[in-house]
Amino acid sequence: MDTSSVGSTADGLSELRIHGGDDWTAAAPSRLRENLSLLSPQQVELAKILLENGQSHLFEHWSKPGVDDEQKRAFFDQVTRLTSSYPGGLTSYIKTARELLADSKVGKNPYDGFTPSVPSGEVLTFGSDTFVQYEEAGVREARKAAFVLVAGGLGERLGYNGIKVALPSESTTGTCFLQHYIEYILALQDASCRLTPGEGPTEIPLAIMTSDDTHLRTVKLLESNSYFGMKPTQIKLLKQEKVACLDDNDARLAVDPQNKYKIQTKPHGHGDVHSLLYSSGLLKEWHDSGRRWVLFFQDTNGLLFKAIPAALGVSATNEYHVNSLAVPRKAKEAIGGIARLTHQDGRTMVINVEYNQLDPLLRGSGHPDGDVNSETGYSPFPGNINQLIFEIGPYMEELSKTGGGIKEFVNPKYKDSTKTAFKSSTRLECMMQDYPKTLPPAARVGFTVMESWFAYAPVKNNPEDAAKVPKGNPYHSATSGEMAIYRANSLILRKAGVKVADPVRHVFNGQEVELWPRIVWKPKWGLTFSSIRNKISGNCSISQKSTMVIDGQNIYLEDLCLDGALVILAADSAEVKVGGSIRNSGWILEDVDHKDTSFPEEVRIRGFKINRADQLEKTLNEPGKFELKP
Ligand code: UTP
Repeated sequence: MDTSSVGSTADGLSELRIHGGDDWTAAAPSRLRENLSLLSPQQVELAKILLENGQSHLFEHWSKPGVDDEQKRAFFDQVTRLTSSYPGGLTSYIKTARELLADSKVGKNPYDGFTPSVPSGEVLTFGSDTFVQYEEAGVREARKAAFVLVAGGLGERLGYNGIKVALPSESTTGTCFLQHYIEYILALQDASCRLTPGEGPTEIPLAIMTSDDTHLRTVKLLESNSYFGMKPTQIKLLKQEKVACLDDNDARLAVDPQNKYKIQTKPHGHGDVHSLLYSSGLLKEWHDSGRRWVLFFQDTNGLLFKAIPAALGVSATNEYHVNSLAVPRKAKEAIGGIARLTHQDGRTMVINVEYNQLDPLLRGSGHPDGDVNSETGYSPFPGNINQLIFEIGPYMEELSKTGGGIKEFVNPKYKDSTKTAFKSSTRLECMMQDYPKTLPPAARVGFTVMESWFAYAPVKNNPEDAAKVPKGNPYHSATSGEMAIYRANSLILRKAGVKVADPVRHVFNGQEVELWPRIVWKPKWGLTFSSIRNKISGNCSISQKSTMVIDGQNIYLEDLCLDGALVILAADSAEVKVGGSIRNSGWILEDVDHKDTSFPEEVRIRGFKINRADQLEKTLNEPGKFELKP
């Protein structure tokens, strides 16, 4: 027996309720009924699911059979994708959406009943003995790691026409972010295998999460550059799907304004990475092949890998299931704070709390001053930079319970205070850092704080917006991202004993930055601080106007006095000593107006180009020992 009926939802909307059977069509919208003969049994099943979930409006504007039939079938292809790419399918998506929209309407605070406190974690100083020890521990573990780059974001704030990972991280060598990351992973792989011969996997895999906005261009970038030296089999691309948009509090799916046979979709956020790793079987594959760690990172942070070895060492030493990389955070700074939250009912979690939620949370739980700096001059809650290290075993265990789904949120922009209509359609979103929200209290969740000068300089903002950033706050632009690399490399060499001249201040694209010597090295030269320190001896100095590019594993600086540009490339089998006084007119940075379209976009967004006036350039491809002393 079939039973179809028309029910009524809480807000009075008429909704079809279908309980199975063949005669359900009697209550189906007439436009769908007329078209049923076009549909396969699977498509009919999907139609039923949509009706059961109050989505009959999706068929309201369908044409009669014979008109747009292909598009009607394509509609179900899309529904199939939306169903299979979401844990629990569309039914689950709509159910969660209704719950979250109801919470949002009544203004429910997700942190009600929780009290924040400062969790335990490590605070590291670059180059300290502890830092160096952690770096070594991290390099040992690295061969048991897998890396995951989330690169599905649109990058609207940056407004770059290409994909972000194709942008040069710096313009001295023009190395793009993806190449930079891959070269670091390969250097880590080599160093780890050398340090721990015969102890585990010999290749470090890299998964890249893409989206429809970035997928094809990411594939092209890899293919046209021979995967930047990585084996193609080492890299796996996982494409995230967008999710359905929602038109109202009853979670009616939005029809695409351009196509009445399409559901409008928008990105779901980087939290998708967990369900993709789980559903693709990749996580299991990594686990089964003896891997212990998964490291998540983002598309445009040129400094991150300076922090990775030590942070992985912290994970291994402290046996952290989850380790969030963090930077010191000024109170009220627009960066999430890592906090332990304890509920009245005893539940606890260590989690990223968005900066606009942290202050009210503190005020509401016995800290009348809210988010303020401690005596250190920084907030006691470290700033989350969303680079995460998970231990695979506990991670897999958790995902097998949740299917990879993590806590989502919804952020509708209401038309008015009745909160009944939205200004534009909304959707559920999720963030990868929310993963620990569902972990049991026994989970070992910690953090590692590193100074941002060597760990965090993302490229997120376009030049106009960056120029408007209040003084003292980071620009997070292509200009500042590049300058941060030169600054970090200069400071690291200083710590290693080189006299590096002070920077000058300069304004590019309306942003005042410190301009340090343009020092760049390949990861295989300077993977860790101790490896850098071991390659420097005697009295070395580098002037502010200088540029130095080091590309070779065994290049040693000894009594080098550089005032100009030096580019040295050497095969791994070549051992090269570089010293003496090198002087030339060097490479000069020339201002470029970001509005001047005669320059390529990659140049315009940083506000300068490099005039390669003069340099000493040496390439040594043969094995052997060499000395370069002009
Ligand atoms: P961002 O915060 O930089 O966001 O993402 P975005 O979407 O790329 O840029 P805007 O907000 O439009 O300006 C942080 C990281 O998460 C990835 C991004 O590629 C970046 O590495 N991401 C973001 C995804 O992989 N998928 C998403 O749906 C969103």
